[in-house]
Amino acid sequence: MTRILYLQNSLFGADGASSRLSRAFIDGYRDAHPDTEVVTRDLVTDGVPHLDLERAGALRGFSDGLNQAQKDVLARSDAFVQELRDADLVVIGMPMYNFGAPTQFKAWIDHIARAGVTFKYTDTGPVGLIEDKPVRVFAAHGGVHAGQPYETTTVFVKQIFGFMGIRDVRFIYAEGLNMGDEVKHQALARAEAEIAAELEALNITTA
Ligand SMILES: Cc1cc2nc3c(=O)[nH]c(=O)nc-3n(C[C@H](O)[C@H](O)[C@H](O)COP(=O)(O)O)c2cc1C
Repeated sequence: MTRILYLQNSLFGADGASSRLSRAFIDGYRDAHPDTEVVTRDLVTDGVPHLDLERAGALRGFSDGLNQAQKDVLARSDAFVQELRDADLVVIGMPMYNFGAPTQFKAWIDHIARAGVTFKYTDTGPVGLIEDKPVRVFAAHGGVHAGQPYETTTVFVKQIFGFMGIRDVRFIYAEGLNMGDEVKHQALARAEAEIAAELEALNITTA
């Protein structure tokens, strides 16, 4: 059995372009592997809180004793980390909002990047503590930005997952979605072809 962790980040839920592409990939995967289990984390509706000093203290261990709110923060973080550990494949819908990743995704990262849990410091530098696994990111952009120096989400996602030990991270972009119907349809068609290629690269052929 394969377990997929799907992180949904679109404000538009299942209607978001990043969600549609993610689902197309997951459906293609499941067609080839019917025994696949999909764990969906909707980071928009789950309401992942942003770090403040109290939460950071719980996650980074610099608080003396934990109050109930901090214990809850730690329990939520532990659940996120366990979902990531348990996954064989991670699928992330990644809309571009204000030239960056959705704030909810960053909050999720802030809950899982934990020294001694998902990475550790050694004499020779940091070492990731999560087993490598494929992470496929379906990025939806209103304009065309991939490869530009200001498009920092790709660099950030690869850096933070690599830091935790996950290096097999690939992006599939659908760009120019707000640049008229023709551009949009071409972008979606290209992304769908890339999804088919990705499934094939994972040794999965769709009908
Ligand atoms: C709040 C907000 C901010 C956006 N900012 C950008 C942006 O900075 N650059 C861009 O190319 N598109 C931007 N867009 C357009 C989205 O990237 C585009 O609608 C994309 O489809 C979003 O993914 P989704 O449909 O999965 O939510 C923005 C859209 C919203 C709603």
